[in-house]
Amino acid sequence: MKRIICAIALSALCLGALAQVPAPVSFQKSSGVPNKSKELSKKIGKSAFAKRTASLPEFARGEAYLLELTPKGYKVEANSETGYFYALQTLRQIDQCGTVFDYPRFAYRGFMMDLSRHFRSKDYIIKQLGALASLKINRLHLHLTDDAGWRLSIDRYPLLTSKAAWRVGASWDEWVKGGQKYSSEGAVDASGGYLTKADVKEILAAAERHHITVIPEIEMPGHSREVVAAYPEVGCNADSRELCPGKEATFTLLEGILDEVIELFPSKYIHIGGDEAAKRDWHNCPDCQARMKAEGLSNVEELQSYLIARIERYLNAKGRSLLGWDEILEGGLSPNATVMSWRGTSGGLEAMAQGHDAVMTPGRYCYLDKVQDAPIYEPEGFGGFLSLDVARSYDPLAEVPSELAHHLLGVQGNLWAERIPTDQHYEYMTYPRIAAIAEVGWSSPESAGDFRERVIKWNDSIRDGSLTGQCYNAFDLHKERGERDAFKYGFKHLALGKSVSYKHPWHPNYTAAAAATLTDGEGGGWSYGDGRWQGFLSDVDVTIDLGEETPLHFVGATFMCDPGPGIFLPKKAEVWVSSDGKEFTLVGQAYNEIKTPVHSYVLFGVPVDTKGRYVRYKATRSREWLFTDEIIVK
Ligand code: ACM
Ligand code: ZN
Repeated sequence: MKRIICAIALSALCLGALAQVPAPVSFQKSSGVPNKSKELSKKIGKSAFAKRTASLPEFARGEAYLLELTPKGYKVEANSETGYFYALQTLRQIDQCGTVFDYPRFAYRGFMMDLSRHFRSKDYIIKQLGALASLKINRLHLHLTDDAGWRLSIDRYPLLTSKAAWRVGASWDEWVKGGQKYSSEGAVDASGGYLTKADVKEILAAAERHHITVIPEIEMPGHSREVVAAYPEVGCNADSRELCPGKEATFTLLEGILDEVIELFPSKYIHIGGDEAAKRDWHNCPDCQARMKAEGLSNVEELQSYLIARIERYLNAKGRSLLGWDEILEGGLSPNATVMSWRGTSGGLEAMAQGHDAVMTPGRYCYLDKVQDAPIYEPEGFGGFLSLDVARSYDPLAEVPSELAHHLLGVQGNLWAERIPTDQHYEYMTYPRIAAIAEVGWSSPESAGDFRERVIKWNDSIRDGSLTGQCYNAFDLHKERGERDAFKYGFKHLALGKSVSYKHPWHPNYTAAAAATLTDGEGGGWSYGDGRWQGFLSDVDVTIDLGEETPLHFVGATFMCDPGPGIFLPKKAEVWVSSDGKEFTLVGQAYNEIKTPVHSYVLFGVPVDTKGRYVRYKATRSREWLFTDEIIVK
């Protein structure tokens, strides 16, 4: 018995678990009561530590640290003030004596805040830095401009803030429903706001104290309706949602804006957006057409590339680097651009294959605007479900060939704000999932094993203010419900493994398990994009062959409703039965009895009392998408 106790004590000493987020590279536990208030020594860039970290990549050397905590006090060694700062972040969370040796897995560990869809103030942004720095997040990407409001003061173009920062409609939804109208500063119907240059300087100074680089995003050429509203001469027409790459006025304006952005923000990277430009007006705009002819551009994708490449030359000439969403690959990537991969990881992988750097922000793991727990109990998200565990499970290197790994700068969590009107709600969506992203960026994938235990402690400490001195409205992990039961436990029923024929094919983007999906016993989760739900832009009309005449008591299927991404319940469902696969009899129907679509999961089931070999289930689409996961036959 004694020997067993010794063995356990010894293994704890060697392995040493540390309740910290992000998990450190190594922790050697020692005995005694820690004295966290006395600094015994601080050695920056001294030869012993420099030697110890010499084989690490340069970014990791700069952020590495050694922290030794004993009953007498603590000692820190690092190669830079940033490494020292990270040692102090660890010190705040550590609750036992020992030695931590630590460095990051990736150079870039980011968080993106959307200030356009709902404005967030300077004070709110500064407040977040404490929690983010405690996670060793080192990039704050500010999405400063979008259709819903321009959020940065530009001296040369005052209408961007006196007009385009103000809209009619306090919430994004109200603004969209009201026809996306702008107002002006001081008007009674004006909602919005913007950061002055003095505000930005305060944010930058606070970010510097937290060793966080702020990356400004000035969106172009799409998501720019507010710019055209303020300065119509840069649109193909006065109602354009996009900038006109045919007009020189556009470049004059963009370069004028970038001059001031560069002067204000020291960041090497300037994010220029580049995503989701529909390019519709470009087809009929004489200036766009003339530009395409003059430059020998064969399509509108190349016209976008022309704009991005020209902006890149401008930024490069001023010593800055261009960062953009993965659409900047379409029509040809600019020579030195870095790609932020959001539509999955393929854009990032393609950029790296072309010799460019990439930051991974795939929607499936990094989009914090998705709800984080059972959607029926959560405030409405923008579509989809992203749990803390799924965010932590992401390994950005998993798909990257080793010879390209040096091009993978890191990872970022994005929090779009369409459905997030309040500061409290914005914090609720940020925390604790940004801790998962931070740990993906800093720690090894193996440390995911005890992540939950560690992050609960971290999350409690930012909720009650004990970690940073500020209380954050983080989601309470003690109340987490987790995935849908159907996803966790699946279904058992008579049609399991039986063959299904489809009258209309499933949509290629949402194949799930193809023809096996609806009888494989696997239930969908809270998210339509989890690979368990099959998506249709048609009726769902399928026939199951049970193989032999079978007594039947119930046939049904669950449909998802998620209005954000356009997923709705069917109008009705019909169940038909046949013995020969030719003559079918209608045996029951179920109707949609829910008037207002809300995020929900509704069983369209029919009790029957019959027998048959073939079961036809037909769900009639109401609008846009239908998503279902299983046809249950009992
Ligand atoms: C994006 O989510 N449109 C980058
Ligand atoms: Zn044009």
